[in-house]
Amino acid sequence: MTQSLSSRPAGDAVESFAAAKINLYLHVTGRRDDGYHLLDSLVAFAGVGDLIRVGPSDDLSLAIDGPNAGSLAAEPDNIVLRAARALAAAAGVPAKAAITLTKRLPVASGIGGGSADGAATLRGLCRLWGVSPDETELARIGLSLGADLPVCLAGRPMQMAGIGEVLAAAPNLPPAWLVLVNPRVGLSTPAVFKARQAVFSAQAPLVGSPSDAHALASALAERGNDLTEPAVRLLPVIGDVLAAIAGQPSCLLARMSGSGATCFGLFADRTGAEEAARQLALGHADWWVAAAPLVIRGTQV
Ligand code: C5P
Repeated sequence: MTQSLSSRPAGDAVESFAAAKINLYLHVTGRRDDGYHLLDSLVAFAGVGDLIRVGPSDDLSLAIDGPNAGSLAAEPDNIVLRAARALAAAAGVPAKAAITLTKRLPVASGIGGGSADGAATLRGLCRLWGVSPDETELARIGLSLGADLPVCLAGRPMQMAGIGEVLAAAPNLPPAWLVLVNPRVGLSTPAVFKARQAVFSAQAPLVGSPSDAHALASALAERGNDLTEPAVRLLPVIGDVLAAIAGQPSCLLARMSGSGATCFGLFADRTGAEEAARQLALGHADWWVAAAPLVIRGTQV
């Protein structure tokens, strides 16, 4: 790995935001010999996410807090610790850091919580350790940890292909709001891919930049999520979540993200999204509901 002097001295604690990943559409276009599926997806991010804090330490540790901390153990195979060890090995530095993960996103839920945490850990540790791998090397380390890591490292809207490693800039997206809803039931990604029966879809990257949220909804209307059908078959409550979101008066479009179970509604403005989130939370006290802006530039705030 190439290292250069960082513009910032190593050693200070660093905080990085791990934004929820949203598949605005997701087509499964093929299957590789190793079982991984080829995807075509427009990936964006929401202004809600986990938080990663890394600080100096004599060893490597992970503490987890936050509202969804209960569903995750700080085991050695946690993606945050795997990311730290992989970066240390590639950079030739000791894997020493005290890491705190504030878990706000539901776990195993199709919005890339684990991948976003892994990407935020890599970014934070690059600064803490004063190492500067080039972006290709960082994406390679990311891909070794999970197929969604490269796009989470990019942290801005991307047209994604391959198994997640082929990234191209997405067309400019308009300002819009999202309401994310999860029924608080985890869904295994391999199980959903395995349950998929339909034939493969064609690639359908967005052509041109939608002028506003309504135009974005129209463009997405003809592109769906190919994993919705198997996910609903495995977990029928996802159908209820989609219907509840679509039933909100100002909802422009309702879709599932990734392999589920989190679904999202697209809204033109904050008022409509927050009112829908309020109604959804009132009607379903057991669901996780969050309103957040669509991140149209980058997640590095
Ligand atoms: O890479 P990641 O750990 O996120 O993938 C979890 C599992 O999901 C893989 O082992 C594979 O079964 C499935 N998967 C897939 N095609 C992808 C991404 C994931 O089949 N593009």
